[in-house]
Formats: sequence, C-alpha cells, structure tokens
Amino acid sequence: MNARVVAIFNQKGGVGKTTTSTNLSHALAKAGKKVTVIDFDPQGHLSISLGMLNRQASGIDAVLLDGADVSQCVIPMRENLQLIPSGPKLHDIELMSTGGAKRSEILRHTLLNDFQDQDYVFIDCPPSSGLLVANVLFATDEILIPMSSDFLALQGLSDLIKTIRKFEQVLKKKYKTQIVMARYTSSRKFSKEVLGKLQQYFPQQILATVIRETAVLSECTSFGMTIFEYRPKSVSANDFHNLAKDFLQGKVM
Ligand SMILES: Nc1ncnc2c1ncn2[C@@H]1O[C@H](COP(=O)(O)OP(=O)(O)OP(=O)(O)O)[C@@H](O)[C@H]1O
Ligand SMILES: [Mg+2]
Repeated sequence: MNARVVAIFNQKGGVGKTTTSTNLSHALAKAGKKVTVIDFDPQGHLSISLGMLNRQASGIDAVLLDGADVSQCVIPMRENLQLIPSGPKLHDIELMSTGGAKRSEILRHTLLNDFQDQDYVFIDCPPSSGLLVANVLFATDEILIPMSSDFLALQGLSDLIKTIRKFEQVLKKKYKTQIVMARYTSSRKFSKEVLGKLQQYFPQQILATVIRETAVLSECTSFGMTIFEYRPKSVSANDFHNLAKDFLQGKVM
C-alpha cells in the first residue's frame, strides 16, 4: 500500500500551513505512523520549523529538475518523521516558462511509487497559486486547507474555491478536501462567523478540533522545535494531539 498523500494548501499567506504541517506530522509520527513532509515552499519555513539548519541541502528541487532519486534527498528528523527539503533551486521553478507538465508528471510518479513504506506524505505548499502549486495539485488527490479566523482569510476563501474548482475541471478529478481551523482567536466575535461560513461552504469537511491562537505556537518555530518538544503540556500540544486523532478517524464538525 502506498502512502496517503495530502497537500497542505491555501494560497493566502500566514494562515498556518507550515505550523499545521510541522505539528500535525509530528503528532502522527508520535502516534506510530510513518510520516514524510515535503517542503514545497522556496522560503524553506517547514525545514526551519523542524530544526534543519543546512539551507543548501538539495531536496525536491533536485527531484524535479535533475531527475534525482527521492531517496537521496530524504532527511530523518524525528522518530517516524522524515523531511524532504525544498532545496535552493525550488524558487527557480516558479519562474520557468516551460517544463511544468513534465515536472508535474515526475512529482505524481514519485508520490505514487516512492513512498511505499510510509503512511502519510504531507506537502507544505507556498502561499500562491502559481506553478509550484499547479505541480502539487496535479500530483495529489487530497487537500488539507488551513484557515485563520480573520476577515481577510474569509475574503480569500472564494479565490481558493475557484482555484480548486479550476483544477478539478481541467484535470477531471474531485479532490478529497478537508479544512483545519489553524489559527482560531476565540476572544474575537468574528471568529465564530468565519467558522459558520466555512461550515456552509465545506459541510462535513472541517476537522473537529480547532487550533487556538497561542503565543507558544508562534515561539516554537524559532527554536526549531515542534510544540510537543517546546511545550508538551500546553493547550496547543493538546490541540494538535486531538487534531491528529480527528485526522486519523475522519472526525469532522
Ligand atoms: N495557532 C497559532 N497560534 C499562534 N501563532 C500561530 C498559529 N499558527 C501559526 N502561527 C504563526 O503565524 C505565522 C504564520 O504561520 P505559518 O507560517 O504556519 O503560516 P503559513 O500559511 O505557512 O505562511 P506562508 O503562507 O508564509 O507559508 C507564524 O509566525 C506562526 O508561528
Ligand atoms: Mg508556510
């Protein structure tokens, strides 16, 4: 059986894609699942969040551009958790005018064939709907959308839905789509409205656990630690522990 491959995607910046990739993957690894995370953002924030210091290590860029074997780029980060970094050349792909279809095929082939020993592969997407994201949406069939509970995130929602529909039409497939409320500010009245709207647009698709906005979650990145290492007893570690359970059991709001 091959791994379940999930693109962590929202074209809006700062909604919690990388925080979700980091902590959900570590939660699943701690639960005994074999997990690979692919840093598909040239900013390399996922690699930094997991504590990888070498920004020059080649990664998914070499797979897509030089035909490198994915096994050459895998870096073990924690027990059961391995990383494929973005690599220094991933940024170039966003600017290339040719070869996009071929790179999408390579990525799909890699995801379908090279992760037989893994349970989950998560792809942390960049905040855009450009060529890199097109590669990912071509190559995957499942999307997890992190959302924050502010006004602009809600504004971005219609663009996001349009992007997904466009890919579904062109590629003649339907994505399995789930949402995670990744930055929930419960003290703000507007947050509830955002959740309500999400339930309207994505019925039965919002994972039951909400990740609350907390200082510790924003702090752990700078130490290259996941929340389970930085503050294992915090409400945020508990939130991600519960989110992982929801993800495994398909428990939605
Ligand atoms: N639940 C949360 N509570 C507090 N801070 C958070 C939370 N989720 C994310 N953050 C912080 O918000 C910022 C943006 O989060 P993150 O990098 O995960 O978003 P992103 O969607 O990956 O951003 P980008 O679009 O730039 O890739 C980071 O500084 C992160 O530490
Ligand atoms: Mg990110």
